[in-house]
Amino acid sequence: MEAIRGRRSLGRVKADPIPRETIELILEAGNWAPSHHHTEPWRFIVMTGSGRDVLARAYGDIAAERAKVSDEPALAELRAKHGAKAYRAPVVIAVTVKPSDDPGVIRIEEFAAAHAAVQNMLLMAHSLGLGAIWRSGEPIYHARMKEALGMDENEWLVGLVYAGVPDMAAPAGRRKPAADKTVWLDGTESNK
Ligand SMILES: Cc1cc2nc3c(=O)[nH]c(=O)nc-3n(C[C@H](O)[C@H](O)[C@H](O)COP(=O)(O)O)c2cc1C
Repeated sequence: MEAIRGRRSLGRVKADPIPRETIELILEAGNWAPSHHHTEPWRFIVMTGSGRDVLARAYGDIAAERAKVSDEPALAELRAKHGAKAYRAPVVIAVTVKPSDDPGVIRIEEFAAAHAAVQNMLLMAHSLGLGAIWRSGEPIYHARMKEALGMDENEWLVGLVYAGVPDMAAPAGRRKPAADKTVWLDGTESNK
């Protein structure tokens, strides 16, 4: 409970590189997520150092495509601004899902499994003393992002895990009480 409640999304981390073995522990945690029919549909694309350039270019291109401006200097500025997002942490792990095409597998459950993998990874990063955040936003669903990350046609990005040594204090966590989101059916409720 301490790990679950104590984990916070930490968006500001130091540039110091994270050892490969540490990153592998985070991947291992993700890999132990549950999956129906043991499909293990998640994939990890680990970007460090200049490996993040592909992400930067994709962010930049997507922003340029959506831009209201068309003059080259303004577009270049936009590309640089959005591209810089890729370097907010020394390691960025793209978590993708390749849903099984087995007719017995329910597609939404494949995404559920990949999302569970992300949460495992965040908890492991937290337990290792790292700051991590699950980032998404419109660009992660853009075809250009798929191309940049070398994803298959039948592969979807479910999140980008940014991680590094924390460079900020963890803010206070807040949640509305579980009771507000819970219905108990214990046989004492009035029959409808
Ligand atoms: C699917 C998903 C996507 C998210 N995308 C972003 C994001 O793009 N940017 C961001 O700052 N936080 C993102 N978050 C993190 C949430 O903002 C964060 O979990 C929430 O504010 C609660 O804070 P906590 O994680 O510290 O408890 C995302 C979380 C989830 C589950």
